[in-house]
Amino acid sequence: MDAQAHWERIYTQKAPDQVSWYRPHLETSIALIQQANPSRTASIIDVGGGESTLVDDLLAQAYSDVTVLDISQAAIDANRRRLGPAAENVRWLAADITQLSLEPAAYDVWHDRAVFHFLTAQQDRAAYVRQVLRAVRPGGHVIVSTFGPEGPTKCSGLDVVRYDAPSLHGAFGPHFRLIESKKELHDTPFGTVQQFLYCHCIVQ
Ligand SMILES: C[S@@+](CC[C@H](N)C(=O)[O-])C[C@H]1O[C@@H](n2cnc3c(N)ncnc32)[C@H](O)[C@@H]1O
Repeated sequence: MDAQAHWERIYTQKAPDQVSWYRPHLETSIALIQQANPSRTASIIDVGGGESTLVDDLLAQAYSDVTVLDISQAAIDANRRRLGPAAENVRWLAADITQLSLEPAAYDVWHDRAVFHFLTAQQDRAAYVRQVLRAVRPGGHVIVSTFGPEGPTKCSGLDVVRYDAPSLHGAFGPHFRLIESKKELHDTPFGTVQQFLYCHCIVQ
């Protein structure tokens, strides 16, 4: 099964709060985004946003230029339904982040929670990093969260790559300056705990 079919199946079969990555709010993500760029006109993209409420929280914080991208159309549709009329204020993209060509230098902030770690093939990681370098303006912020070194080896039945801060920063390369990293213990809806790692870099 290809990646798109896999994620469409997940989002058509499971309730939003019945997936291991569910949190009512992505508190660490929103805090890092606000800290990275407090300007409410900052252009922000949430890559692999799934059905997360980050977009709701960004709009509630009065961020006015938000894009949500996901490989699953079902996830995008569910988000739009949840937001109701406010969905009109968001740009929605159903696409594989390693395949499309985002507009050059379009974003001030790039956010990804639990997407990059699914890229187990070097050519996919390279395509992702090229996409970041194309789409984020120089001086822009990149906030990427993966499973940490003690995190699970699989998610949603798929293999993942686990990272510590040096290896995640290293996967992005010399055009990224590491500003901050932090680990988070995520309580899943199933009573288990997963270690996540967040890195905040600036594109230089
Ligand atoms: C573990 S979920 C995380 C969802 C959300 N970021 C969160 O934290 O709640 C991974 C998400 O990445 C999306 N995804 C996986 N591979 C992708 C790709 N190549 N391009 C775009 N989205 C992708 C999936 O559809 C899914 O919504």
